[in-house]
Amino acid sequence: MEYDGSPNREHPPTPHANGPREFGGRVGVTPTHLGLLKGIMDSGIQPQSQGYAADITSIEEAKLRISPYIHETPVLTSKSLNSIARKQLYFKCECFQKGLGVLQMLYSLFPMIKQPKESSHTAAVSLAAKLRGIPAYIVIPENAPRCKIENVKRYGGQVIWSEPTFQSRENVAKKVQQETGAIMVHPFNDKYIISGQGTISLELLEQIPEIDTIVVPISGGGLISGVTLAAKAINPSIRILAAEPRGADDAAQSKAAGQIIRLPETKTIADGLCAFLGDLTWPVVRDLVDDIITVGDEAIIEAMRMCYEILKVAVEPSGAIGLAAVLSDQFQQSAAWKDSNNIGIILSGGNIDLVEEQQQKPHSHNLAFAS
Ligand SMILES: Cc1ncc(COP(=O)(O)O)c(C=O)c1O
Repeated sequence: MEYDGSPNREHPPTPHANGPREFGGRVGVTPTHLGLLKGIMDSGIQPQSQGYAADITSIEEAKLRISPYIHETPVLTSKSLNSIARKQLYFKCECFQKGLGVLQMLYSLFPMIKQPKESSHTAAVSLAAKLRGIPAYIVIPENAPRCKIENVKRYGGQVIWSEPTFQSRENVAKKVQQETGAIMVHPFNDKYIISGQGTISLELLEQIPEIDTIVVPISGGGLISGVTLAAKAINPSIRILAAEPRGADDAAQSKAAGQIIRLPETKTIADGLCAFLGDLTWPVVRDLVDDIITVGDEAIIEAMRMCYEILKVAVEPSGAIGLAAVLSDQFQQSAAWKDSNNIGIILSGGNIDLVEEQQQKPHSHNLAFAS
C-alpha cells in the first residue's frame, strides 16, 4: 500500500511483514478491540463516559468513520532504549499518521470530503478544505516554524497572522469566524477531534494489550483526552501520564490548582505544546489523567536525538517529549515508576524544520478554520 501519511517517504517496514524485531519491530497482536469491549461489557465494567466530551461509543464511531482513510501506525521497540529506561517501551508512531481528529471532524461535517494526507492540524484542515473546494482560513502566530506555514500554503490554506500569544490567536480566530461565517475546526477543544484522537488507544491496546501506562504529549489536551477516555474504558487501571514542557507547564499548574491556569507567556522548543486547556479537555485532565510530568528543553532535544539515532524516526520536539518524560527524574522518582512496566509512548508529530533555527524561539499553537 502506498504510504501517504508522511510526504516523500516510503512506508516503514510493517511489523506484520517482518515480525518483532529490534526497532521497527512491532510486537504483539491480539484480540480485536471489539472483542476487548465485549469483555468489558460482559464483566459489568462501565466504560467512562458521562460528562466528558467523548466516550468509547463516539470513539468507536470515529474509528469506523475514518478507518478507510488512515494507516495502522506501527509500534516500534528498541532494546537499547528499554535498557536506558529500564522499562519495556512501546513507541506508537503517530508521527506517521494523518490528522485523526481533523479527519473525524471534517468527515462528520462534510461527508463528501476526500482524505487529507497531512499529519499537522493546520495542513490537514487546508488540504481537506481544498479537496472539498471550500476556503480555509488558518490562524497562525507570527513566530510559527517555517515548515508549518509552508505546508499550509502548499495545500491552499489562507494564512492569517496573529501575535504569538494564545489570547491573540483566539481573538483573531473569533474575528475571522465572524467576518467569514467559517466553521471552527478547533485543534483540541472539540468532541469530534477528541473522539478521533481516542482511536489511537483503540489501536495501541489492540496491538500491545499488556501496556499498563501511556505517556502522551499535552498542549490543549485534545490528544490526551481522547487517548485517556478510550484507554480507561478498555482498561480502567491503565495509567495515563501527560508530558509537558517546563516552559509551558499550564496543565501541570492547572492540575495542582484545581482550575484552568493560563500563562502570560510560554517559552519552549516544543512549539506544538503551548496552548492552554479548554473547557472540554480540562475535566478529563482533572479527573482521569494520573499525573503530569514536566521536562526542560534540553531533555526534549535529547529525546529527539534518541528517536532519530536509535529508533530512526524523525520526531519533532512536541512529539518526542513522551520519551523525555519517561527518562526524567520526576517519573523515575514517582510512585508510578515501579508499577509502570510496559509503557506506551505516543510519538505525535514529525514537522521538523531543517532550515530554520528554532531553538531560541518561543512557539505556540495554531487555530484553524474551514468555512
Ligand atoms: C506534535 C504534537 N503533539 C501533541 C500535541 C498535543 O495536542 P493537544 O493540543 O491535543 O494536547 C500537539 C498539539 O498541537 C502537537 O503539535
